[in-house]
Amino acid sequence: MNRRALILDELGLSPVWVRKEILAELQAKPVEPAHVAVASNSPAPRPQGFSPVAVAAHQALAPLVSPAKFTPPPAQTLPANDPIEDERSLRIARMNWQELNAAVSTCTACPLCEARQKTGGQTVFGSGPMQANIMVIGEAPDADEETQQTPFLGDAGKLLNNMLATIGEDEQVYKTNILKCRPPNKRNPQAAEVLQCAPFLKRQIELIQPKTLLLTGRFAMKTLLESDEPVSVLREKLQQYKQIPLVVSYNPSYLLRNLPDKSRAWHDILRLKAALKNSRH
Ligand code: URA
Repeated sequence: MNRRALILDELGLSPVWVRKEILAELQAKPVEPAHVAVASNSPAPRPQGFSPVAVAAHQALAPLVSPAKFTPPPAQTLPANDPIEDERSLRIARMNWQELNAAVSTCTACPLCEARQKTGGQTVFGSGPMQANIMVIGEAPDADEETQQTPFLGDAGKLLNNMLATIGEDEQVYKTNILKCRPPNKRNPQAAEVLQCAPFLKRQIELIQPKTLLLTGRFAMKTLLESDEPVSVLREKLQQYKQIPLVVSYNPSYLLRNLPDKSRAWHDILRLKAALKNSRH
């Protein structure tokens, strides 16, 4: 039986119905299935449990269908970030939680530390339980979040919490950002800043080992998935980062300004719930 017939059979759609006159024509000149070796003097084997109509149709169609070779769809898994190549990243990759926290709070690897030191600002490491079902990754803290050393406060944080609460998952959630320092004037993270901060985030993920990851916004997505695809494309399928199921969605701050995308984000949260359910099996 060819692949098409097998799939139809699996879906409960066999036997295949063929119009009478076409059947007569098919039966008048039976064709051997292309992928079954048949001795020249023996009739073509008849697949079990199929009507003569289905068998004739199958035999006629077999040569038109490429031999039953299954080509898997392109993998959705995107490459994890580059291998750690520099000495600083290697050191960070060996840190325990306390060492990591201390390294973040004294970091001077990019110019954001100058602004931090000038204004007496602080780093925002992350918040939530280490035993996290979900690790939410955003972009960077704002002024209020910096003062309280807690990511995702304010309206964006409330929106995120409400969305997670609707799937009953607002407790075992660890929240953090790609940048642990606040960029001035709410500007976007810059590549050099992300480069220096990313090893901290990767070590946090390794130490927490969350069941699922929720990346909110393009900067978080670019950092972990190294893809230039827009959020609107990568959010459509479940992704993976080092074998952890990963959902891409919009940043809640963006959603506050773009209400139509809220319903899409809701679908992402449902995808997250499904991924979490699967990870518990
Ligand atoms: N608050 C954060 O801490 N991160 C974001 O990405 C958005 C709001």
